[in-house]
Amino acid sequence: AHHVSIERARVRKDSSTKKLINEAIMNNDFLKKLDPQHMREMVDCMYERIYTEGQLVIQEGEPGNYLYVLADGLLEVMQNGKLLGEMRPRTAFGELAILYNCKRTATVKAVSQAHIWALDRQTFQSIMMKSTQATQEEY
Ligand code: CMP
Repeated sequence: AHHVSIERARVRKDSSTKKLINEAIMNNDFLKKLDPQHMREMVDCMYERIYTEGQLVIQEGEPGNYLYVLADGLLEVMQNGKLLGEMRPRTAFGELAILYNCKRTATVKAVSQAHIWALDRQTFQSIMMKSTQATQEEY
């Protein structure tokens, strides 16, 4: 077997930030099914990004390379130019393109300045791969 070691960058976070990201993951129907060890690694590797009012976080139809958690601010979700709803803090989003390798299903726009935690696809995949390896090594 050929082992590729990817150095994952951990970003220090205080306990209230970790709690917020964890709650957002557990509020998401898809992400809450992940292994707890994977969730901890995801939380550790997320890094903060600030979006300004009016900026697009996600554009419908594009390939998706990040998974996000909204920490502060307000976002709106649109599909075919139609407003689907709003997102408030403690919401994880952008999981569909990452988990199912599909195009972005909706546009997400910052209605106010927004603090968002992001995780890139390579880091997500390397976290998911690690346990597959660990599980195989047990047998
Ligand atoms: P993704 O398709 O990767 O990118 C757009 C994201 O918007 C999607 O993942 C979901 O996280 C989110 N999303 C899609 N449809 C809705 C909806 N109807 N209401 C709220 N969020 C949505």
